[in-house]
Order: sequence, then structure tokens, then C-alpha cells
Amino acid sequence: MCGIIGVTGGSGVTELLLDGLARLEYRGYDSAGLVLQAEGTLWRARDATKPSPLEGLRKVAEDAPVATAGIGHTRWATHGHPNEGNAHPHLDCTGRVAIIHNGIIENWRELRARLLESGHVLASDTDSEAIAHLVEEELATGVDLTAAVRAVVGELRGAFALGVVSADEPETIVAARRVSPLLVGLGDSEAREGLLASDIPAILGRTRTVWALEDDEIAVLRPGSVEITSLAGDPVEHPAIEVGWDLEAAERGDYDDFMSKEMAEQPQAVTATLVGRLLPEGILALDEMHRLTDGDLQAVDKVFIVACGSSYHAGLMAKYAIERWLHLPAEIDIASEFRYRDPVLDGRTLVVGVSQSGETVDTTEAMRHARSEGAKVLVISNVVDSSMAREADGVLYTRAGPEIGVAATKTHLAQIAALEVLALYLAQLRGALPGPAIAGLLDHLRGVPDLIGEALARDEAVAGVAARFVDTRDFFYLGRHVGFPVALEGALKLKEIAYVRAEAYPAGELKHGPIALIEPGTVVLAVATRNRLWDKLKSNIQEVRSRGATVVVVAQDGDGDSAAEASSPEHVLWVPPTEELFSPLVDVVPLQQFAYHLARAHGYDVDRPRNLAKTVTVE
Ligand code: F6R
Repeated sequence: MCGIIGVTGGSGVTELLLDGLARLEYRGYDSAGLVLQAEGTLWRARDATKPSPLEGLRKVAEDAPVATAGIGHTRWATHGHPNEGNAHPHLDCTGRVAIIHNGIIENWRELRARLLESGHVLASDTDSEAIAHLVEEELATGVDLTAAVRAVVGELRGAFALGVVSADEPETIVAARRVSPLLVGLGDSEAREGLLASDIPAILGRTRTVWALEDDEIAVLRPGSVEITSLAGDPVEHPAIEVGWDLEAAERGDYDDFMSKEMAEQPQAVTATLVGRLLPEGILALDEMHRLTDGDLQAVDKVFIVACGSSYHAGLMAKYAIERWLHLPAEIDIASEFRYRDPVLDGRTLVVGVSQSGETVDTTEAMRHARSEGAKVLVISNVVDSSMAREADGVLYTRAGPEIGVAATKTHLAQIAALEVLALYLAQLRGALPGPAIAGLLDHLRGVPDLIGEALARDEAVAGVAARFVDTRDFFYLGRHVGFPVALEGALKLKEIAYVRAEAYPAGELKHGPIALIEPGTVVLAVATRNRLWDKLKSNIQEVRSRGATVVVVAQDGDGDSAAEASSPEHVLWVPPTEELFSPLVDVVPLQQFAYHLARAHGYDVDRPRNLAKTVTVE
């Protein structure tokens, strides 16, 4: 999500930091900052000016002192708004320790509370700043920076890539990671600068040889040397990675395009959205409650979910969960329709707007309309401080990180996860489900990212099925219950990136008209994973097969009955089984891959499909 760079040694530290940050620009970010070690002090500059914080930072850095080492950061806000005060690097109370962090610290609330109690002054709203103060406490015991960081890493829960400097240890950068990636290297020039980066592009101009740190490893960088040790302090050696890519390829990593990279990031996107919210003492859902109280949420008697496109499909999946777990009426509407009809809203209506960008005009206006009618407005967005988030009564952020491919993939999965968390949070708050039932569901939910990973690993098999349909111009997607929004999303992906007509129906509706279109050779893709309407879906598949349709099914591992509904064993997209209401998170994956492979087979640009924009700011 955030970008990290560190440089020690050589004569151009500041320039290298600024160039490295510019090379991380493709990830999208909302603020940027750096700290330089110079003449026994730390010099810090940060900027959050839109549209280009980096430009602002460059200007401030014109007055920077000559530096021997430094760390820099581009931020994509998760905790705390995107403003200068929340931008990294963060300092400790003395101003002699600085940290940069990528990831999410799960136990940040406890850490902050403890630090505040012992007299620290925390200047930001971030989860990250606590790390600087924890390092400060360790240093006060007389240990060196490496030992201090080692001790702090042992205290942190969650995901992090860290870079730490102290004014008292010139030319030294200490780095550590868990889950979030971190690379170290040495510059190719005579100066042999020690280099630190979250992504290869940041340091590609300086070296093509890097080492990737593993979980809970600590690296100490100095000019001409990189030492890696385990958390216990034992030396560690990793094989060097030789980077052969150009800059654009490096941005995409090992992937051919951003869409496949972002699909592969889906387990992390869902994990990041769940981290810190499913606590042993209960669920913590909302990040911001501007004008919303627990009392308001307890009093709600109707929920409206309002969104567009893939966000609408995520909302539709959540409707089933809200009705089941909360026993509350839940309506779902397309934002561009909702705002122009006369939805019946009042102070006990909760309107949930779902939007990855948080800027979609149709959804923004629908939220405004709902507020003007006195409803409580809650927004689920991937962008902190987006227009919708600012105007909402309460906000829950998905934490998928920036999505560059136009077709929503990882943000869509993160939205489903966030909506499920919201539904369970409301169930807890309203006492709608017994504690053990919530705990059981949470256990399932925690396991879902691994299942998404398993589904992703079957990409080659999906490509094989897709290869049979390269010339097919019409598809029917069928599903029932939560399989229906999965079918809708699969069909949308196919339309938008492969430019193929695809109609999605709740399978029971087919006989009311569309079945007239089924003839020998029509291709039908059925989401046949097990839910309460599986038997009925089976009959609907029979109806199309008996009219000569070619049937592809999404079936759960070991489910021979569902697989038998496919036209052949080569027409099955297998997925790992999961709990009914969480199954869309897994079942949609092969449909994304199916659309991707058909688009690629035609040589289409999957990242920039024709006629589409990533943020839709027109009606
Ligand atoms: C589909 C897609 C669009 C968006 C829709 C809403 O892949 O990306 O359908 O889902 O335009 O956008 P947000 O979520 O930004 O409001």
C-alpha cells in the first residue's frame, strides 16, 4: 500500500530518495515525506498537497542539508486521514528517532494507550507512530538502534515493513518486516550505498541486485554493507535476486499486467480489511463515526445498500447476510436509480454507500439525497478522505491498496469482506446473533483469505477451460441465492474486459422468458457451489442442458453431483468449499480469471478496457 525507500552513503542521498519516491508514484498515494540524517540531527519534510505531494516535497527539499542517510515514504492512508500530520516519517518525542512503515499494526490501539499513559506525546492519528515511541523507550534502556528495533518487532502484531533511523547512529538504517514486503541492496556505484525499498522500482536506478527479507528478519544497512539477522539475532543469508526488468515491468512485478497482479493480491486485500477488526473481545467495524452512534445503529429498522457496478454486486451479496444475521429488511439499489425515485427513508434507515473510489458521482449524490431525507449514511470506501467518506455519518474502509487496473478485482473482494464485517458487527451490537454463532462465523471468515489463495492457484486450469470459448460471443451466467451476485459479477468482468455479451440471471427466472434464447451451442456458466438453493439450481441447469446448451459449472472440490451437471469434466471450474454466505469471496475468483484469459486471448489491454474510466465522475 505505502511505498518505502532508504539510502545510506554516497553524495546524493536526498536526490536518490526523491527519485525513488517518484518511481513509486504508479501505486497512487496521498502524501509523501522524508527524513535526512545530517550533522547529528534529523531533518524532516512532509507534504500532502493534492494532486502531487511529491512536487511539494521536492520544493521543501531544496533547502535540505547535505545528508549522509535518509528514509522516505509515500502514504496510502489506512488509519488517519491523508494530511501532513499523518504523513511519514514519524518521530519519537525527542525528535531523534524516525520511522517509516508500510502495513497495518493490529495492536496499535493498545500500544498507543500504553504510550500515552506513560507520558508520550503522539502527534498523529496513525497506527504507525507508536513504533517510533516504542523504539525511543527501548533506546532509553541503553541498547543500540538494532537491539531496540528487534525488541519492538517482538511487540508488534499485524503486518509491517519498517525503516528506522536515529540521529545518534549516523549512516545506519535498521529495517524489519512481517508480511509486508521489504528489499535491501547495495548501490552499483563506487559509493556502494545501502538501499532499502518496499518495491524494486524505487531502487532500480541504483542497483539490479537485491535481497528480500523474510518475516521477522532485521536488516542493518550501512554504506557498503547489509547485515541480515533473524529476530533471535542469528545471521541469515538469502540468495540475491537479479532484476532483469525495465521500470514498467518492475512496477508490475512478475505479472503481465496490473489486473493479474491485483487478482493475486486478493488474499492480502481481504486480510488487510479484516486485520484489527475481528478481536477476541468482539468486532470493531467502523473507522470513523462522525455523526453516528451505537444507539443510532441499534435503532435502525431498515438498511438500504446503494452502489454501482461491481460495488453494487458486493452490496447484493451482503443483502443476504444482513437479512439472515440481522433479521432486518435490506434493500439494494443502483445508485443512479435510487437518487431519482422516492425511497422511503427516515432517521431509522441506515443507507450504506459502497464505492472503491469514494468519488463516483451517482453514489455520492445518492448518499447526499439519503442524508437530506434524514437517513443515517455509512460509507464503505477504499480511499481515506474521499468525498463520500468526508460527507458520511460513518465510514468503514476497505484496505485493498490502490487498484490500477480499471476492472475492480481486489477492491471488490475487500468490499464483500467489509460488508460481512459490518453485518456481523451490527449483529453483535443489536444482539441479533448469539456470541458463539458470531465466533463460529468469524473463524470461517479468518480462513477465507487462504481459500481465495487456493482458488487463485488454479489459474492454469481456468485458462484451459476459457481456451475452449475464445470465439464464443454470447454467454449466460446463472446462479441462485448468493450465487446470483457472483454470476452478475462474472458476467460484468467478461463484458468489460473481453467485450463479450454476457447476461446474468437468477436461474429461477430463466423460465420466465430468457430460456427462449437457449439453443444448441448456447454457452451457460452456472455458479453451482452449494447453497440452500443448490437442488433448484440443478433443475434449472437441466432445463438448459436439455435444450442443447453447453454448460460450464463452478463447483466445490469433491462435489461430483455439481460437476456432473457440466457438459464434460473439462467444463468444471473447481473452487475450495466455504461457508455459504462467505462463498462469493471464493467463487468469484475463477470467473475473474475466466474473463481475464478470454480478454488476453484476443490481445485486449485488460488494464485499460475501452470506454471505461477508473473513477466515474459524470452521471
Ligand atoms: C467494474 C467496475 C465498475 C465500478 C463502478 C463503481 O469492474 O470497476 O463497475 O465498480 O464504476 O465504482 P466505485 O466502486 O468506485 O464507486
